[in-house]
Amino acid sequence: MSHESSPVIRLSDYKPTPYAIDKVDLDFNLTAKETLVAATLAISPRDGTFGEPLVLDGDELTLVRVAIDGRELSQDEYEATPDHLTVKVPPNGAFRLEMTTRLDPAANTKLMGLYRSSGTWCTQCEAEGFRRITYYYDRPDVLSVFTVKITAPKSEAPVLLSNGNPVSVGDLGDGRHFAIWHDPWPKPSYLFALVAGALAAFEDEFTTMSGRKVMLAVYVEKGNAPKAAYAMDSLKRSMKWDEEVFGREYDLDVFNVVAVSDFNMGAMENKGLNVFNDKYVLADPEIATDADYAGIEAVIAHEYFHNWTGDRITCRDWFQLCLKEGLTVFRDQEFSSDMRSRAVKRISDVRLLRSQQFPEDGGPLAHPVRPEQYKEINNFYTATVYEKGAEVIRMLKTLIGDDAFARGMDLYFTRHDGEAATIEQFIACFAEASGRDLEPFMVWYREAGTPIVTVEESWDEASGRFTLTLTQETPATPGQQTKKPRVIPVRFGLVGPDGGDMHPSSIAGAEVNGGTLVLTQPLHTVTFEGLSSRPVPSLFRGFSAPVKVRQALSSADLIFLLANDADSFNRWQAGTTLAMTALVKATQQVRAGQVPTFETAPIDALGALIDDSSLDAAFKALLLAVPSENDVAREVAENVDPDAVANAHKAYRRTIADRLGVRLKSIVEADQTAAGQPYVPDAAGSGRRALANTALDLLSVTGSSDAMDLVRRRFETATNMTDRLAALTVLVHRGDAGAEAALAAFFERFGTVPLVVDKWLSAQASAPLPDTLDRVMALTEHPAFSFGNPNRVRALVGAFATSNPTQFGRADGKGFGFVAGVISRLDAANPQLAARLLVTFRSWRSYEPKRRTLAEAALRSIQTKPQLSRDVADILERTLA
Ligand code: TRP
Ligand code: ZN
Repeated sequence: MSHESSPVIRLSDYKPTPYAIDKVDLDFNLTAKETLVAATLAISPRDGTFGEPLVLDGDELTLVRVAIDGRELSQDEYEATPDHLTVKVPPNGAFRLEMTTRLDPAANTKLMGLYRSSGTWCTQCEAEGFRRITYYYDRPDVLSVFTVKITAPKSEAPVLLSNGNPVSVGDLGDGRHFAIWHDPWPKPSYLFALVAGALAAFEDEFTTMSGRKVMLAVYVEKGNAPKAAYAMDSLKRSMKWDEEVFGREYDLDVFNVVAVSDFNMGAMENKGLNVFNDKYVLADPEIATDADYAGIEAVIAHEYFHNWTGDRITCRDWFQLCLKEGLTVFRDQEFSSDMRSRAVKRISDVRLLRSQQFPEDGGPLAHPVRPEQYKEINNFYTATVYEKGAEVIRMLKTLIGDDAFARGMDLYFTRHDGEAATIEQFIACFAEASGRDLEPFMVWYREAGTPIVTVEESWDEASGRFTLTLTQETPATPGQQTKKPRVIPVRFGLVGPDGGDMHPSSIAGAEVNGGTLVLTQPLHTVTFEGLSSRPVPSLFRGFSAPVKVRQALSSADLIFLLANDADSFNRWQAGTTLAMTALVKATQQVRAGQVPTFETAPIDALGALIDDSSLDAAFKALLLAVPSENDVAREVAENVDPDAVANAHKAYRRTIADRLGVRLKSIVEADQTAAGQPYVPDAAGSGRRALANTALDLLSVTGSSDAMDLVRRRFETATNMTDRLAALTVLVHRGDAGAEAALAAFFERFGTVPLVVDKWLSAQASAPLPDTLDRVMALTEHPAFSFGNPNRVRALVGAFATSNPTQFGRADGKGFGFVAGVISRLDAANPQLAARLLVTFRSWRSYEPKRRTLAEAALRSIQTKPQLSRDVADILERTLA
């Protein structure tokens, strides 16, 4: 059966369940062969329920036994299929439903429900994995108190964990033992977790603001315990920060984190038992890059913060996913900003939003931050729900101010604690706290698409009046042809000739609150009076709204902002706009058969910034980082020829390298001197390395033997993974004569560390070379690669599809064909992973006609497979629509 005809689930159809589940007892009997799960549910009818059948969800389940109040049901009293258990006429009043199901965790390759990862039994239940364990109301608005007993062989599973607090343990004397856990906080099934395995613990403790002691542990595979130190440190800092900034205290006696090697996503916030992809736990300077450390800090914080925004207050239904995800991303962004550099964090977050969310919002998979329908909820864990969801909360804070925002959060925590809430309830707290009508703001949740704000200016010297005309328009998205105007906060400054902000005597034409203009209409004409000279407008400071801005600032204005703007984000933005303009023009020149040409003034302005000792290295690294080829392709938007983009990109980088070469070289040398010091993965150290490695990459574009010698030397003398991997990547990407030897040496040293093998795979998969596809295909046969492990697949095939525009987008279509083949092959075993890979095709309509035809053919080839998963069928259907 194909899933193209899967039913559509709609927000407007929401109805509470007829029965409540007041208590759950789960008894897991884990053996090498099979697992028996005995579930006992205390069920009661909700008000207004009279004898309705009880219909519980299942997924690929096998029922062994079912009884009510101790009496086994006869065949005609119930119906059990893999997907459902129906009790036709439940008792009136409360009753106890007992069920036993039989599972085969070792055969569970979907990594949803109960499965085995390197021998460890573990679960993943969000969004709908609990129904693969037992029949249940597997939806977030059914909250219950869980008690869990786990029995397992001692040798294979000395460690037995579940949610909540440990109650007791016991030895059965036959080589088996058990543990009982009780979670006092009512929770939905998606937050259930169980882990059983031979794991080592990295332990610590934390004393909460009210003086309660919490035992902390990070569980990892034996031998890896020291690599959990940074995760533990991040956890303690997260706990402290949530107390200080949001007033949120932890609420159990223990908090456990487990790292597993087979995991579909980043991590999961199960109550008191977070389960992680080991990529977001394991680190030491030998194996982890600065980016890995930052990722661990952010994801540990994210999952911990879910304890309040997700677990204590959960979602009424999956349409409200952004209620916990957008808010928790906002919280983890704020945490990382406080731990590191706020400006650098903001720029990285905006780069991520533009590279992931903007193409989603502008393509066939566009959907509102709070969608109103879906076929497969797994496909809605998207950049729109997460990253744009966080931006919407950031705008809300800008709009109502920090104090009202803080009061609104407090109100939300007190009012909805213990509930499954909606976006409307969340927003109502801020409307109440601020006294502002937030109904117009709701458009951000209800409508998809990235608004385009067009800015025109005029200056009247005689009257000292500066006028900005701001118009907004949101392009149509699938299923939403017309769009309402949005509330758009524009943080702004008018930069005067001395580089400082000017202060107009009056502003008219839009609401102004503090340094923010609030747009609410399709068009605003905003006048600023009493100015002594024409200001350079600096708009959307700090990226105050997730919009695209069309504003024809001259190169001179942009260079001026790059040098002077009081807002760091807009300094970077000015530099990026200059670079992007140059790259788009160069791409057009290449396509017209011309040699690309570049203005030198913007490049010299960058040079001046490199010399500015008041700027930190991480910020300079971002200023020097050229927008990616994918960024340029997005800006070009139609008839994209990735080879033309790549040639223009290379020519531009070469121009920078030629003009700033001396400076770039001295940056690398300065870093070499500092590299003797011990490695610290903090903002200062990682900034210095980022700057040096950006400079190294630029220098290498010249291909000069000098530059390549420098790269080879850095590879050989690197004292940490950040520098080693950066140098390796440059050697491989330039097709350097030393690349093969470097790859071999790297594998020789790290071939047994899977997370480092991933870096080795990605460096090769992203090389912009004609033989890369052959190499990637060969690597799928390498003993260190496995289609069964999501991290390996993403590192090789995912990196090829997302980070190698010229080879994925080969003119002969073989890149598309290869990735399509992998998707077809993976679909039955792991539909979530297959569907995520498929998303890499979302911008296929932007290609020039030849590639567009080839990409479409590759997509259609997936469609011909007979038994497509709902996940892949849904993405395919929308992508081709
Ligand atoms: N809720 C998790 C988070 O954002 C992510 C998540 C959702 C997930 N579904 C999953 C993780 C499936 C693993 C598998 O923190
Ligand atoms: Zn989350």
